[in-house]
Amino acid sequence: MQIRPVDVHDDTDFHAFFAVHEASQRFQRPFVAMWGEAEAAVALRRPDSAERAEAFVAVDGDTVVGTGFVEFPLLDNTDKVYFTVDVHPDHRRRGIGTALVDHVVDRAKNEDRSVLIGMSHYPTDADEDHPYRRFAASCGFDLANTELHRVVELPVSDATLRGWVDECAAHHEGYRIETYVDDLPEALLPSYVELKNQLAVDAPTGDLDFEEEALTVEGFLERSATLKEQGRTVYITLATVGDGDAAQAVAHSVIAVPADGVDEPHLHQWATLVRRGHRGHRLGLATKAANLRVVQRNHPERTLLHTSNSAMNGPMVAINERIGFRPVEVNAEFQRRLV
Ligand SMILES: CC(C)(COP(=O)(O)OP(=O)(O)OC[C@H]1O[C@@H](n2cnc3c(N)ncnc32)[C@H](O)[C@@H]1OP(=O)(O)O)[C@@H](O)C(=O)NCCC(=O)NCCS
Repeated sequence: MQIRPVDVHDDTDFHAFFAVHEASQRFQRPFVAMWGEAEAAVALRRPDSAERAEAFVAVDGDTVVGTGFVEFPLLDNTDKVYFTVDVHPDHRRRGIGTALVDHVVDRAKNEDRSVLIGMSHYPTDADEDHPYRRFAASCGFDLANTELHRVVELPVSDATLRGWVDECAAHHEGYRIETYVDDLPEALLPSYVELKNQLAVDAPTGDLDFEEEALTVEGFLERSATLKEQGRTVYITLATVGDGDAAQAVAHSVIAVPADGVDEPHLHQWATLVRRGHRGHRLGLATKAANLRVVQRNHPERTLLHTSNSAMNGPMVAINERIGFRPVEVNAEFQRRLV
């Protein structure tokens, strides 16, 4: 067995990588929602000035038996490496996962990174004997953050959502709530990027310790272009204060819709965040409900909305429960510090 990089620009090599990654990710996960092959190819082929990604495979003869994927943040959190390793369900328990993690450790050392963070998913009732937890422990990782992956069937009653929007409006006089598709007005970009950069420090992340992100407007536009090339439609509902060029984004809620035919019927609730000085005005529920109304009206074929939050994130979980989200699995992050 050998570990080698994937030539992400070669369709055949990329397909062999993705097929095993997908087989592993879908194994025993009835509620998995994952990127399509074409989406993943765009993400790995397009340069991103804020993050460098590498894909690699474990091969046994000509057969790909395992895959790995690492991301090196370049502008912030530069002590970290984020990764996923996957072993095809038919080839597990033969040391392939350990070899893939050893490769991640080598890459981290070569890039002078000391904190490794790996992701995994398992049922909500799994304990420390679950295979993926035992594997992480055997590789020297601690369970550092536990999020619950939740889903809600759509549509949520439009009258209910409208009721929440109206109820919230009484609490946020002076704020404007507006939904944008894919692109934001130029004047809002600097405050929007600043808002987005707070998520890493404002959302609870257990024992993981993140710095604020340092994404720039140019970096954000680069990522928007990647999302367009992937065929995804992104709905962003913003709460703003001020008018015209002085307007500032202070809260947002984002839903991503994959391209037609990709991973139906799923869609993804991404971040919802209210800036610290603007909390207490129900802007979280206001932006989330307003965004969802537009998305479910425009995409009736998408009937399952996914989200993931730390179990410790009381305010966000309360909003999600109100919307009808229910937990379906654990999204776990395991951490190992290199000394
Ligand atoms: C977790 C995963 C990568 C393990 O791959 P693998 O090739 O089976 O792992 P290894 O053979 O290297 O296992 C190493 C050790 O982990 C533990 N382990 C792994 N699978 C186990 C299982 N089913 N039951 C109990 N312990 C297990 C054991 O201690 C094992 O050592 P041993 O076989 O000498 O007892 C694989 O199950 C997988 O792809 N899961 C889905 C994706 C994921 O969760 N990735 C991990 C986080 S990034």
